Parts: sequence; C-alpha cells; structure tokens
Amino acid sequence: MTSLNAAIIGCGAIHRNHVDALRLLPDVDLRAIADVDTPKGEHLAQRYGCRFYRDYQEMLLAHDIDVVHICTPHYLHKPMIMAALAAGKHVFSEKPVAMSGGDIAEIRHAAYASTGRLGVCYQNRVNPTSQTIDALLTAGTLGEMHSIKAILTWSRGDAYYRDSDWRGWFATEGGSLLINQAIHTLDLMQWFGGGVRRVKGVVDNATLNEVTEAEDSAMATFEFHNGARGLFYASNAHVTDSPLLLEIHCQHGTLRLQDNILWLLTGDGQRELARDTAPDGGKSYWGTGHQQAIAHFYHALRHPTADGVMDLDAAACSLQLVEAIYRSSQLRRWINLTDVID
Ligand SMILES: NC(=O)c1ccc[n+]([C@@H]2O[C@H](COP(=O)([O-])OP(=O)(O)OC[C@H]3O[C@@H](n4cnc5c(N)ncnc54)[C@H](O)[C@@H]3O)[C@@H](O)[C@H]2O)c1
Repeated sequence: MTSLNAAIIGCGAIHRNHVDALRLLPDVDLRAIADVDTPKGEHLAQRYGCRFYRDYQEMLLAHDIDVVHICTPHYLHKPMIMAALAAGKHVFSEKPVAMSGGDIAEIRHAAYASTGRLGVCYQNRVNPTSQTIDALLTAGTLGEMHSIKAILTWSRGDAYYRDSDWRGWFATEGGSLLINQAIHTLDLMQWFGGGVRRVKGVVDNATLNEVTEAEDSAMATFEFHNGARGLFYASNAHVTDSPLLLEIHCQHGTLRLQDNILWLLTGDGQRELARDTAPDGGKSYWGTGHQQAIAHFYHALRHPTADGVMDLDAAACSLQLVEAIYRSSQLRRWINLTDVID
C-alpha cells in the first residue's frame, strides 16, 4: 500500500476528529500542522510528534506532505484549497468548500489544473442511517417520493461565538446557522431528494443577535426536481443539541430518522433499519462519520476509480442551497437554484 503523509491547517475544535481519524488509517502519517496560534500549535505538534508551521504557505512547500486537511475559518477555505492544489497536494477540506456559490468556478479551475484531488467533509453522508436511506431510495422500493421534512434544533450561545472570533460574522463565517450547522442537513435533503429545483425561505435572528450578526434560525420550503416538497426548519437558539429529525414520505412507506435511529413506517407498523453511534467522546450531533469520510478519501487517493468521495460538485449543491435561502429571504420570493449556480 502506498504510504501517504498528511498535514492539517487549523488546530481548533474540529481538527481533533481529523487527527483521530488519521491515526486509525494504515500507512498514513501526520507529518505537520499549521496554525497562527504559535503556543497552541507548538504544544500540539509535540503531542502528535510532528512539525509545526506558523505559516501554512511554508508548509505547502514541504515535499514530504501528500494530503492537506483544511480545518480553518470559512473565509480561509477557498484561498487555502487553491494554494494547496497549486502546490500539487491532495486536499480534504472541512465544509463549506467556500463562502459563496460564486467561488466554486475558481476552485474548479484550480482543481482541474492540479494533480491533487479535492474532497469535502460532509461526514453525515456516510452515517449508516444515511447510507441505508440512499440505498432504499436508489432501489425505488418505496415508490414515488412525496416529501422530505427536516428539523434541526441546536444550541449555540455566547461562549461558542466568543471562543472563535471568526464565528458570527458575514465576512469570516459567510452567515451563521445555515452555512455552518444546517448545511449538513441541507446537503442530506438535497441528496435524498435528488436535487432542489427552487426554494422559498426566510432567516431571522431573534435570540442570538448580540453574538452573531447573521441568522440564528431559518425555515424554507423546497421543490425537488422529482416533484416532492421539502420542509426545513433549523435553529441555533435551542437549549440543547437535539438529534436531527428527518422524515421522507414515499408512496409505500415513511422513513423516519429520530434520535439517530432510522425507522421504516408502513401500514404494517414500524421497524428499525439502522442506527448511528458516536465513537467514544464524539459529539454525536456532529454526526459520527469523520473517521469513515476520511478513510474513504484516502482509499480514493489510492484507488482513483473508487467513488464515495464528496467532491466539489457534490459540495457545491448545499452551498448553493444556503445561498438561495439567503437570497429568497432578502427578496421574499422563490429562487431557482439555476440562478445561483456558477
Ligand atoms: N464537519 C463538522 O461536523 C464540523 C464540525 C465543527 C466545525 N467544522 C468546520 O471546521 C472548520 C473549523 O471550525 P472550528 O470550530 O474547528 O474552528 P476553530 O475556531 O475552533 O478553529 C480554527 C483554527 O484555525 C486557526 N487559524 C485561523 N487562521 C489561520 C491561518 N491563517 N492559518 C492557520 N490556522 C489558522 C485558528 O487559530 C484555530 O486554531 C470550519 O469550517 C467549521 O465549519 C465542521
């Protein structure tokens, strides 16, 4: 097996999931980390037994690094992805791939020009429940799809926004609830529904307006290409992090994801189909799939024809949906997704 050497840019809250995932992969070595916080970076590098760089650009010059993980604030994703691709590295970036659908074309250009491959972290797609839903919908046994409903209520308070100064600002986060937390739910909805034709939505900031200038809640109605309707509600102003509630109503039954368990409801009753379990100490509401999503990416690097990697086109869909909801809220009308596609 070809050995691959990894590096991580940004050593905040999420980077630990990447470190843990890398440690479990055979023939993968974490060679370096980069962060602008020197004391933190030096301390972590010592703990991980790797090099530390304050300047990620300098790290990209290193010949012994094959894969770069990007775990930084949203406004840095696009320049860092493009710089890493230009340096010939493979890139695994945290979501969102950029802050606007308009950035996708430039990133695509950089990806075409590079020998590196780009993957984006939407780890909820590899959850056992998501995989089961996808397999059932692909097989078509549930018949025509009528609607998808999703409700996401999490808790993000003062401490969360004040812990990291980029959160809560349009310039650095690109929004708030939709582009950061709910983007995973929007991705699942548009994936299960086979793509959204148009959306009408509204965003509001009723509770967290002292800590974020962007939205703390949002609701939207979608029209999928398959004719089904989507109903979406999300808020960061709940008092706790409730597991996602998602229902897919089809001609021959309803799929219900509740408390991380997937149920199939039919006229004969209900039965459990799959469940997601968090690894020890993991935050189950983030989804449990970082390990698997990262393992898929490294597998695909070694087997270029393998599928299962969230590439740029897949990652662009949820970003465009986020943008369409913002635009719809501003203009108070339906927005066609083709109008926000690059
Ligand atoms: N997939 C998920 O479920 C999930 C969960 C949480 C966060 N995330 C994503 O992970 C990313 C990071 O979020 P976080 O919560 O870990 O943020 P964070 O603020 O905790 O960490 C960001 C880190 O980046 C560093 N940084 C900032 N500028 C830098 C630069 N120029 N060069 C190098 N390092 C720099 C900061 O010092 C900090 O250590 C975001 O894209 C977020 O949306 C994803």
